[in-house]
Amino acid sequence: MSAPTPDLPELVLAGSVSKRADVLVVGLTSTDGAPEVVLGDGLVDEDALGEVLDAVQAVGATGRAEEVTRVPAPAELPVTSVIAVGLGAADGIDPERIRRAAGAAARALTGVATATTTLSALDLGAAAEGFALGAYTYTEFRSEKSAPKPEGQPVARVELLVPSTRDRAAKAALARATAIAEAVATAREFVNVPPSHLFPAEFAARAKALGEDAGLKVEILDEKALAKQGFGGILGVGKGSSRPPRLVRLTYRSKKRSAAKVALVGKGVTFDTGGISIKPAAGMEAMTSDMAGAAAVVATVVLAARLGVAADVTATVPMAENMPSSTAQRPGDVLTQYGGTTVEVINTDAEGRLILADAIVRACEDGPDYLIDTATLTGAQMVALGTRTPGVMGTDDFRDRVATLSREVGEEGWPMPFPEELRAGLDSRVADLANVSAQRWGGMLTAGIFLKEFVGDGVQWAHIDVAGPAFNTGSPFGYIGKGGTGVPVRTMLAVIEDIAAHG
Ligand code: BES
Ligand code: MN
Ligand code: ZN
Repeated sequence: MSAPTPDLPELVLAGSVSKRADVLVVGLTSTDGAPEVVLGDGLVDEDALGEVLDAVQAVGATGRAEEVTRVPAPAELPVTSVIAVGLGAADGIDPERIRRAAGAAARALTGVATATTTLSALDLGAAAEGFALGAYTYTEFRSEKSAPKPEGQPVARVELLVPSTRDRAAKAALARATAIAEAVATAREFVNVPPSHLFPAEFAARAKALGEDAGLKVEILDEKALAKQGFGGILGVGKGSSRPPRLVRLTYRSKKRSAAKVALVGKGVTFDTGGISIKPAAGMEAMTSDMAGAAAVVATVVLAARLGVAADVTATVPMAENMPSSTAQRPGDVLTQYGGTTVEVINTDAEGRLILADAIVRACEDGPDYLIDTATLTGAQMVALGTRTPGVMGTDDFRDRVATLSREVGEEGWPMPFPEELRAGLDSRVADLANVSAQRWGGMLTAGIFLKEFVGDGVQWAHIDVAGPAFNTGSPFGYIGKGGTGVPVRTMLAVIEDIAAHG
């Protein structure tokens, strides 16, 4: 079974603007609405850049963030045109602003074979990630009838200008950025594959291929093994579908002895109709993204292995399709989660927490120091925080650490509380817990409180709800196009690396 291998542009270091380059991309800052070209450490002729500034100013460029202005190139440069991309205010430029500018430029570079850029002089890694991710597109199911014409194809090669192409730090930064971009693109690709083609067994097989390729230990439980071991949540959610559920475990062990143990868990609902508590038709197609948490944790454990991070990482990934049928679970059914907790299924559309509960209990059997779970868990996440801001819940210290690191990498996670009074809403008339609360408000928090019941004692835990941020149904922005975004892969990598460095 083939793992998805997204096509990203080739990223290379360059010491000067090469003859091969068609377009030069430069950064433009803004001071009181007036643009200024960011000079690239003598990498590009400064007189030529002065001419570029005159030209973009003449057509009204301001330098505001992600503004793209394309002008003919000055005669002294070997390229045909120059794209000036806005970075916003000159003060306080951070890696995320560079990433977004590079992404906006990459989206404008269709039909260009080779581009070169000075954005790498500001931050090589951020520029490389931004170009690669901004150029990502998903075209697997386009026949000749709608495939992009040459002029619509993404940029094939990006030459990142640096003072010395032999510099070891520059080479390492580029290799790291390439690995990160590949992991994010891998997560996006899983999300973008339609539910006709990505169902639990297929998702499991692709995750296995990817994991084995990266040297991970891979274990797959099929529906028989799940039944034998008592994974009642995964089975309950999956039983309405003709395509049975799976639980995939991917383990990376670092070379470092006594490394911290990190468990990752991701929601892998390959399609969420709601089940018998069926969703309305409008927008239901977006529920192809309901396995984005699973996609992100699979991509992250593979990335941790590729980067050789000094922490042990195990991803525990429940996969199921939530369908209504004569074999589906009913509202009012009681199931027994892995580990023995009984749950009354009041609403079959609150299925994510049921498969996650099984996976969390299984993950905690390994005795992890830290557990991160992530899921497209609640519409309430978007009500609370909008479509681009993940909600981060969990044990107080680790929750705050994860949210802070998430903002440092530009994924914008925000810490959210567990108000004590919400727990009682999950009491059931007949079982240990109900899967939804009679209380209407704070739905994202209630879902987190449900999961909390299954987290082992003493485990530092963070739950990241990415219902909105994992899937972009709006316009492209920065380095994010339509569809899967790959959030929160970079947050989880940052956390694992922080744990590897500081415990
Ligand atoms: N997968 C959905 C959550 C979701 C909604 C993700 C919109 C992305 C976009 C989840 O399984 C769900 O249906 N949640 C319910 C929970 C409710 C029944 C308590 C919801 O949010 O309405
Ligand atoms: Mn649902
Ligand atoms: Zn769901």
